[in-house]
Amino acid sequence: MAQVLISPVPKILSHFRFILTLRSEEGKYHSLILFRLSPSPSLVYQESDNGVGRKVESDALGSASNRQIYVMEATCPHLGAEMSHADIEEYEDSVVAVCPWHRYDFDLKTGKSETGLRTCTYAVQIKTDQGTGDEQVWMEAPDGGRNWRVVELRPVSEEFADPPPLLKRASADSGDGHVAPQEELEPIVPEENPPKTLMEWAVLILNTPNPTLKVERTRYAVNAFRTGAITSIGHKAAHPPVPPAKPSREAYMKIVQPGKIQSGKRRNRVVMLHALANIEQWAIDLAWDIMARFGPMHKDLPPAFFSDFTKMALDESKHFSLLRARLSAFSTPYGSLPVHASLWDSATLTSRSLLSRLAIIHLVHEARGLDVNPKTIEKFRKAGDKDSVDVMEVIHADEVTHVTAGHRWFVWMCEKQRQWDGSDMDPIQVFRDEVRRCWRGDIKGPFNIEDREKAGLSKEFYEDLKGEMPFDNDEDEVRSTSKNTTSSLKTDGAVNVKSVQQEPTTRVEYES
Ligand code: FES
Repeated sequence: MAQVLISPVPKILSHFRFILTLRSEEGKYHSLILFRLSPSPSLVYQESDNGVGRKVESDALGSASNRQIYVMEATCPHLGAEMSHADIEEYEDSVVAVCPWHRYDFDLKTGKSETGLRTCTYAVQIKTDQGTGDEQVWMEAPDGGRNWRVVELRPVSEEFADPPPLLKRASADSGDGHVAPQEELEPIVPEENPPKTLMEWAVLILNTPNPTLKVERTRYAVNAFRTGAITSIGHKAAHPPVPPAKPSREAYMKIVQPGKIQSGKRRNRVVMLHALANIEQWAIDLAWDIMARFGPMHKDLPPAFFSDFTKMALDESKHFSLLRARLSAFSTPYGSLPVHASLWDSATLTSRSLLSRLAIIHLVHEARGLDVNPKTIEKFRKAGDKDSVDVMEVIHADEVTHVTAGHRWFVWMCEKQRQWDGSDMDPIQVFRDEVRRCWRGDIKGPFNIEDREKAGLSKEFYEDLKGEMPFDNDEDEVRSTSKNTTSSLKTDGAVNVKSVQQEPTTRVEYES
């Protein structure tokens, strides 16, 4: 039986449940949840002098089953709820995970439910590395792929992801010291017509101009989606809510063309932090927009798509809050400097094709972020700004997972198209075609080859690649360009993306 190395044992002792993402040699993905139900790690491990966990008691907890480590599918087989926040209930002879949406229970060993449904579970084994003597967690490999490997092992619980109920706030203070001018915020959950589905929350958040409220609503909605307070994605509805063409911004935000952002002497750390926070605010909207815009177009998108992009929305909200807190430390409120909206121009350009959106936003812009973040971190380090270094390192680690999500769903779309009409949809060639059509100029290096590889982007995706959209004379101007896209993916909704007119665009960089 083929097996996959999950991690050294000490790495899973920090939390009791983890999101586990595997990728096969062919580029297929598999999302799982690892539950560790064994007693406190201190019973099993104690810290050695070099900070590495060392086993001190092995007899009682020597096997994977005694340590109660289980791996099961990340989404419920009933209607696709995330199982990351499932309740765990123990009976005499079994342990079950109870789905947060409709309370179906699934045996963690067999995957069976009393309802007759069944989810996949995977055998877990603890093995000792013969060379180092270290213990490692291994699992049975899923079917349908070769040479699976772990691309993400992320603890489920973190304070930002699991906020306390946020139905009322004490003041307009965002919690990071910043209060925008006379900020009188609406309730997080609107009193009239509160959203009932994930799609309705997505559109509400896109139509929320206030950044504090946008973050709070994102935290609330994602938590509600995970814990069962929202039990419907809503993308298959007959009349799903329509996302705005462009998310609104507060009147106090001064939006200028990208080339008009401060440069030269004024391009200091504060300007950089402000520019990064601006990108993160657009990134929150991009995560909600991809769900609200393309979910109804592609009704066969599985729940895992919405799990990935709600996680992305939550991450971007966290990034925005962390950066705004850094700005507060420099007595610079977010919104006190001009910002640009160029990232949204790429969103507009790709608003009719999910393949184009994934290619340009997630595999070009966000992948470019992987290249430039280490340099930005280095600049903060040289300036002695350790707090900003810490923030950027959190952001960078999350962004690798966002590019991974982009790659995952790009490959999924290619496979769907191949199944639909038998066309040759090699993801590398399709990506290169999308970039040639929807991008201007070179895909610039130097590249962070290692992190791009982690995210699924081998060099064949991006090396020697040039967008062929024509340049205009003045790059700072937003201009219209018409071009027929050849994207012809099947959609289950009323919209077919074949031969649509492209919207206005401008050349942008992920870096500010
Ligand atoms: S019981 Fe899990 S989605 Fe219904």
